[in-house]
Amino acid sequence: MSDIKRKPMIMPYHRHVLMCCGKSCGENIPLLNYLKNRLADEGLNIHETKAVRVNRAGCLGVCSEGPIMVVHPEGVWYCHLDEAAIDRIIEEHFKGDKVVDEFCFHGAIV
Ligand code: FES
Repeated sequence: MSDIKRKPMIMPYHRHVLMCCGKSCGENIPLLNYLKNRLADEGLNIHETKAVRVNRAGCLGVCSEGPIMVVHPEGVWYCHLDEAAIDRIIEEHFKGDKVVDEFCFHGAIV
């Protein structure tokens, strides 16, 4: 019998988004779903070089300025999110590789 443990497999991705769905951010499940649906519409959930993985997070510790999300590998933090902000982040950051200064408050040279 082998001691080698099986490891989980996930789809490759380029960026990883953690969106706060904590209470103080309004438990953003609709906004989280909006982001996921928009990424799927754009093909960015499975894109060869720009795939974005999204996970729901608990409180990220910046509750007063939520909704909040952080984008890795850049370590860019966004605040005051709504659907219009998500649309801009998808276009300018995820597709255009340019941080959206208007919503960024940490982690990038802006
Ligand atoms: S509940 Fe969202 S940062 Fe705290």
